[in-house]
Amino acid sequence: MKFRTERPPSWQICIACGNETTELDPHPRCTACGGLLEVQHRPPLLSRAALIARFAERRGQRPGALASGVWRFHEVVLPSAEDVVSHPEGNTPLLHREALDRWTGMRHLLLKHEGHNPTGSFKDRGMTVGVTQARRIGATAVSCASTGNTSASLAAYAAQAGIPALVLVPAGQVAMGKLAQTLAYGARTLLVRGDFDDCLRLVEEASRKLGVYLLNSVNPFRLEGQKTIALEMLQQLDWEPPDWIVLPAGNLGNTAALGKALLEAHRWGLISRIPRLAAVQAIGAAPFARSFAEDFAHRYKVRAETVATAIRIGDPASFDRAVHSIRETEGVVLAVPDEEILEAKAAVDGCGVGCEPASAASVVGVRELVRRGLIEPEEHVVAVLTGHILKDPGMLLRYHREIEPAPTGANRPIEIDAELGEIERVLARPE
Ligand code: F0G
Repeated sequence: MKFRTERPPSWQICIACGNETTELDPHPRCTACGGLLEVQHRPPLLSRAALIARFAERRGQRPGALASGVWRFHEVVLPSAEDVVSHPEGNTPLLHREALDRWTGMRHLLLKHEGHNPTGSFKDRGMTVGVTQARRIGATAVSCASTGNTSASLAAYAAQAGIPALVLVPAGQVAMGKLAQTLAYGARTLLVRGDFDDCLRLVEEASRKLGVYLLNSVNPFRLEGQKTIALEMLQQLDWEPPDWIVLPAGNLGNTAALGKALLEAHRWGLISRIPRLAAVQAIGAAPFARSFAEDFAHRYKVRAETVATAIRIGDPASFDRAVHSIRETEGVVLAVPDEEILEAKAAVDGCGVGCEPASAASVVGVRELVRRGLIEPEEHVVAVLTGHILKDPGMLLRYHREIEPAPTGANRPIEIDAELGEIERVLARPE
């Protein structure tokens, strides 16, 4: 057929025979000849200038460093920095999914998804500032210890800046996606026979003795960048602060950074009240939660063990800064079991959002605080998802394909011969 009267806004046309059909025709190929289809649109009614102006207005960003969700806030990040090393990063979405309201018992839970950063985790926000600083001071090499995300981020930003990077990670304890990125971006990668805490001790010593610039979150410039998770979130909420911000906690750099951001934003009049922070650890790696339970009377070190390898940390470096953040925001620290982290991850993944295991700790934290009555269901809560679903594909494939008996959320793939009958048999089976 051909549209002879006035054309609809959009339609489909066969590139082989020219047959036209409606926009909503569900056939995957041309019904007349089997050719490939193409979508066509009526020309826009606006002039070229008006159209370009409209696109520019919607984009809402300027070129260069100001396109970054970190450097947009440069007056409160590093005002004197000029020539910045920016991907750009940040500009991560604030998401809402009803399935997660039901899972947590909340009315309207928001998720700040930091997995949307260029290397797939919030670390890029700190690293753009850290590597900018490394260049400003003329560092000849940069280094870090990492559970995987910091190393991937450092490797990428060091590559961009043209500075050699050295990373130390615990052998056999880093998620596949993170190790693959670190190698691909070209960092000199040492697999240390030990845990993250051994790596951190070693890299601090190496940087002192060998003159390599240390870019773990011990480095305060990293934290200045990470503050922008909170600043960008507040901007997205029109500077109306939420009641709670809930985040996973390992080395405690992020807990420190978010606390600093909120206190400064309040002091400088950007917000009228301070949201409470909730830092969530895995039970097997919870020295900070243990300390919180005793009102921070003691600092603990533990041998850490958890499926959430990103936060498998027993002696967090930013402990003292994080104590300040929790105290000043009337925050709380809690520890949640690995099984619940995996259950929350399946819920986050299953609604199409997806995150890495450690990130799901914040969602468990929300549910637990609702259960305890500390968070009311109608309060405004933002849970930070710190890393992308593809960071840990090994763990995902084990969960969905291998664990026996299959966990409730497991989605077993089914291998078949290339025959229609096989598909019919699968579809006839109850799920
Ligand atoms: N979530 C993810 C995905 C992480 O990679 C980390 C830390 C955290 C949460 C905890 O943040 O350490 O500031 O309390 N990853 C570090 C790394 C340790 O080496 O990538 P934190």
